[in-house]
Amino acid sequence: MSSVATSEANTAFPIPANVFAETVTAVKHYTDRLFSFRMTRPQSFRFRSGEFVMIGLPNAEKPVYRAYSIASPAWDEELEFFSIKVPGGPLTEHLQKIKVGDTVLMRKKPTGTLVHDALIPGKRLFLFSTGTGIAPFASVIRDPETYEKFDQVILTQTCRENAELNYGRELVENTKNDELMSEFVGDKLHFHASATREGETRGHRVTTLIENGKLFTDLAIEPLNPETDRAMICGSMAMLREIEGLLQARGFEEGANNKPGTYVVERAFVD
Ligand code: A2P
Repeated sequence: MSSVATSEANTAFPIPANVFAETVTAVKHYTDRLFSFRMTRPQSFRFRSGEFVMIGLPNAEKPVYRAYSIASPAWDEELEFFSIKVPGGPLTEHLQKIKVGDTVLMRKKPTGTLVHDALIPGKRLFLFSTGTGIAPFASVIRDPETYEKFDQVILTQTCRENAELNYGRELVENTKNDELMSEFVGDKLHFHASATREGETRGHRVTTLIENGKLFTDLAIEPLNPETDRAMICGSMAMLREIEGLLQARGFEEGANNKPGTYVVERAFVD
């Protein structure tokens, strides 16, 4: 597939030099609150798994940009994103209506803290997410380096409703069965999904499951241990704070690109 940036002919306004204009190749709606889309990837665009970019639409002279984690792995020839639909949200109100062939703008510089470089080596990698916070981990769990660095990868996602967990379920299934990835993943990847407002897992926030130990008994794994475990966190601010508190109480220390630690947090949000 050609990944040459689409021409300005598709856009009503000129594209600044620090912005790529890319073409949507697929859109999938999961619920009335969540959708994913894929778009062409500029040949010159490089990123590390777990990073985010600023995304906008060519619908105004000064487009609204929001931080979006890249959900696809570095080896994918396209870029994938997983988005919330915010009623009246300045970007997502329009973004949720995109169709194949439409143009999406992307600032050229990726950045972020949910990267291997910000963690010191360990044995198990915990990836804690709520809602669309799973997006950077969709990239991380499809990166062969993750399985070269860790013996076990434990992805958790908490959403309000069961249907909101389907992106993650498909992702994990596809990753385990992928021709390229299955060889790296083996039996290392675990997924714990809970819907907090319906069904059997009602009330099961991941924070509660860490505190009462159910997360570990459910997955038949050892409890958190800062000596061997590393963690990445992405989700709502309240969830980030609570998980950070739980990790810090267990002796984990926050890392950054210039000072790796035992856990990292992403504080960039969509809408
Ligand atoms: P809950 O249904 O109990 O509020 P949201 O859609 O509001 O971003 O929430 C996504 C998921 O994150 C929901 O399952 C929600 O649970 C959960 N959640 C919200 N706040 C926290 C928190 N402080 N710690 C853990 N999970 C949380």
